[in-house]
Amino acid sequence: MSVLVAPSLLSADFAEAGRAAAEMESAGADWVHLDVMDGVFVPGITFGAKMIADLRPKTALPFDVHLMVREPARHIDAFIDAGADYLTFHLEAAVHAHRIAQRIRERGVKAGVSIVPSTPVSALDAMLPFVDLVLVMTVNPGEGGQALIPYCLEKTAELARLREERALSYHISVDGGINEKTASRAREAGAGVLVAGSAYFSADDKRAMIDKLKAL
Ligand code: DX5
Ligand code: ZN
Repeated sequence: MSVLVAPSLLSADFAEAGRAAAEMESAGADWVHLDVMDGVFVPGITFGAKMIADLRPKTALPFDVHLMVREPARHIDAFIDAGADYLTFHLEAAVHAHRIAQRIRERGVKAGVSIVPSTPVSALDAMLPFVDLVLVMTVNPGEGGQALIPYCLEKTAELARLREERALSYHISVDGGINEKTASRAREAGAGVLVAGSAYFSADDKRAMIDKLKAL
């Protein structure tokens, strides 16, 4: 199966966000990755549901919304109403992770769960049958442009093994430090979705960058 590329809007000029999302589609991206930060779970604050609703008409690509927020249960309905196709929350921020995933799916949206570098895959064990996507943070969440932490790719390999053993079908996504040098290692370690912020936005030829991230 070929890998999917989800450019992260985080590295865009936010004043040009609509244009950047539309351009992702013409450049051959698969999904638009949207990083929501609350200033509590992570230091920075980005944008909320209204931004996503306003972006929704700008492209037909699926919206891959990554909530880096405390108490995600309070916010999932707003982001579903805004147009999320995949809605991912952090295991570390959730008390009732299973209930949140069920709620997201009940509303007809794909449920994702994410883990930061210090959280082992074993913490996700009970959740795996109930999610459509596992997002492995390959940097500490909060900002773009950081270097990939190599041991995080051992987690993608473990998630791929568990998916096979248990006949599950979740996507395995990697987020942080993905560029033309690290993408092949991530793919070899089982990642099927590559999130790329700074690598995508720093490229003059965005289509060529997406091709490089996908190339074997
Ligand atoms: C970081 C965000 C990422 C970020 C990745 O907390 O979750 O999606 O945009 O940026 P790069 O690709 O520059 O590491
Ligand atoms: Zn992200």
